Amino acid sequence: MGLFCFMKTKILHIAPDAVNTDAIEKAANILKRGGIVAFPTETVYGLGADALNTEAVQKVFDAKGRPADNPLIVHIADIRQLFDLGEKISQKAKKLAERFWPGPLTLVVRRKPFIPDIVTAGLDSVAVRMPNHPVALALIRSLGRGIVGPSANTSGSPSSTNAQHVYDDLRGKIEMILEAGPTAIGIESTVIDVTTDSPVVLRFGGLSLEAIEECIGRIQTTQSKDTLRRSPGTQHRHYSPKARVVLIEEKNANQFSRLKETHAQKNIGCIIHTDEIRANSQKLKAKSKHSITMVLNNNVEVVAQQMFDVMRMLDSQGVDVILIESVREKGIGVAVMDRLRRAAEK
Ligand code: TXA
Ligand code: MG
Repeated sequence: MGLFCFMKTKILHIAPDAVNTDAIEKAANILKRGGIVAFPTETVYGLGADALNTEAVQKVFDAKGRPADNPLIVHIADIRQLFDLGEKISQKAKKLAERFWPGPLTLVVRRKPFIPDIVTAGLDSVAVRMPNHPVALALIRSLGRGIVGPSANTSGSPSSTNAQHVYDDLRGKIEMILEAGPTAIGIESTVIDVTTDSPVVLRFGGLSLEAIEECIGRIQTTQSKDTLRRSPGTQHRHYSPKARVVLIEEKNANQFSRLKETHAQKNIGCIIHTDEIRANSQKLKAKSKHSITMVLNNNVEVVAQQMFDVMRMLDSQGVDVILIESVREKGIGVAVMDRLRRAAEK
C-alpha cells in the first residue's frame, strides 16, 4: 500500500432526481486533475478515477488497499463507448448491452491496446458497465470518458451502500464523495465474460441469471480454474465485516438454537428475516445479555439492499459474531448467498 498525505474528504449532496450541475462539475474537475471521487450507482458506491490516467487509477488501488492483480470496471454513459474500449464485440454482448444497460450488468470484452494496463491488471480483456444512476451518468458525461469504479470500500470489507460507509472506510484518502442516499440494489453488478462464443458468469450480482438467459439463452456458470484465472477478483477475500460471520442455513431453527448456545459467551448480532427465526431470536434476547437482532423484511431484494449496511452497523456495535439467515437461491438470491458465503469464509 502507498503512503498518503491526509486530505480533507468533502461530502457533496446531490438529489438524484435533480442532478446539480455545479456539484457534478466540481467532481469532474477533480477527475480531470487526476484526483479520485466516490460516486453513487444503483448497485453500490464506486470509487472513480479517469480510466485513461494511470496515476489516477493507481490512487484508487492505494486508497482501497486493493491487490494490483484485481482489474477494474470502466463505467460508461453511452453504448458507443463499449465499442471504443472493446474489440470484436459479439452479437450476444451487444444484445445484453442493449437490453440491460444502463443497469447492474458488467460485460468483459476484448480490450483495445490504449487502455492502461493498470485498469485491466494486464489481462487482454476489459470490464465495462453503464450504471443506472443519474449522478454516475452525469459525472461520466462531464468527464467525457470512462471512469474506473471499484466498490468504494477498503479492499475485503463489505461494499459501501451509502456515503457514510464510504466516509468510514476512505476518509482522508479521497477528495470527494458525491452523496445521493442509499443505493437501490445494494449488491454489485453481475459480471459476464463475453470474450468467447459461450458467455460465462464470473460474478453473480444485481442482474439475475434468469433475466440474462431469457435474453441470450443458457450460459455457463461453473467457475472452472481457467475462468477463475480470467477473473482474479473472485479469488480474493471479500465482503467481510470485522466480526466472524456464521450462516444460519437450516430453516427449522434448530441450527439457530445450537449456534446461540455455541456463542453464548460472546456478543452476538443476528440478521434475520423469516418469522420462524424471528420467533426464535426473541428467546435469544431473553437468554443473552449481549445480543442485537436486526430484522429485515422477508424479501430477497430488501435483504440484498440492506445486508452490507446491517453488517457494518453490527460491527460498529462491537459484536464478535454475526449470525445471518440464508435466503433462497433464486433470482438475486444467488448473488446474496454468494456474498454471505464469502463473508462467512475466514
Ligand atoms: O456494481 C458494481 O459492479 C460496482 C459499481 C461501483 O459499479 N463495482 C464493483 O467493482 O463491484 P469491483 O472492482 O469491486 O469489482 C469488479 C469485479 C472484480 O471481481 C474483478 O475481478 C472483475 O470485476 N473484473 C474486472 N475486470 C475484469 C476483467 N478484465 N476480466 C475479468 N474480471 C474482471
Ligand atoms: Mg468490490
